[in-house]
Amino acid sequence: MTRQAVHLGATQETLLIPLYGRAVESRKPEGEAVLRDPAAEAMVEAIDYDFSRFDGGPSLTGAVLRTNLFDHWVRAFLAEHPGGTIVEIGAGLNTRYERVDNGRAHWFELDLPDVIELRRTFVTDSARRRMLAASVLDADWTAAPQAQGGPYFLAAEAVLGFLPEDGVRRALDMLAERFPGALLALDTTGPGMVDTQDSHDALSKVSARLRWNCPDPKLLEEWRPGNRLLASHIFTTMPAEVHDALPPRHQEMIAAMKQQDLPQVRDYRLNLLQLG
Ligand SMILES: C[S@@+](CC[C@H](N)C(=O)[O-])C[C@H]1O[C@@H](n2cnc3c(N)ncnc32)[C@H](O)[C@@H]1O
Repeated sequence: MTRQAVHLGATQETLLIPLYGRAVESRKPEGEAVLRDPAAEAMVEAIDYDFSRFDGGPSLTGAVLRTNLFDHWVRAFLAEHPGGTIVEIGAGLNTRYERVDNGRAHWFELDLPDVIELRRTFVTDSARRRMLAASVLDADWTAAPQAQGGPYFLAAEAVLGFLPEDGVRRALDMLAERFPGALLALDTTGPGMVDTQDSHDALSKVSARLRWNCPDPKLLEEWRPGNRLLASHIFTTMPAEVHDALPPRHQEMIAAMKQQDLPQVRDYRLNLLQLG
């Protein structure tokens, strides 16, 4: 099989880290994997890239634990709103649709044009699923999800940290204006991770760097009156139902993390914000 070359911008290349994390996880034996993602396995097989540079570090597992929590939040949203609208912001090659779609929801998958071009080689638009090629900061892309109607769940997984703070503020204000009351899942990185990224096991292997340093996601409530932080977790404080469903090895790893209290764990938060 001829593998497909990828031509991605620097920030866009980072999508290959969580993609590879899901594929590696998915290949694990029964009872040892956090999730199954055969679509991610097939994409990694098809792409001509030296994924082995990401082997051996804790980040692949971290990415999978993050995805697992975001999947949990989307499933909970769909249980309440089966016909709701999911917007993946900076979708990369994420296959959340394949993992959690319920046969009724509507999905929009937004990313920069070069990523959407690559994504289109694996994913096809359908009546309930549509890709959008734009920056989250562009004014026009929201028209299609707005025309679809809500309620809305917006997932910005490992995306906003690559923008400067004023870009994140503009993006959040625009999302709140266009999708008032929507739930937004986003991760925030504080100084413990932003200041050490040159030695980070995965980010040190690519040229993109995190730019938004958010020491406390509670600040997002101050940025805009009406924003409400509904949940904020680190890997060692996952919701009980998510933690307890993890394979034993992952639970042991998390217990070990608790003992170590590393700044890069303490300062990396997975948040659920209601936009007001
Ligand atoms: C680390 S990847 C995460 C991809 C995906 N969310 C996942 O979890 O697999 C970061 C993604 O953010 C996208 N991205 C970065 N800046 C963006 C912007 N201004 N607008 C839309 N997407 C952006 C990149 O192209 C890339 O796909």
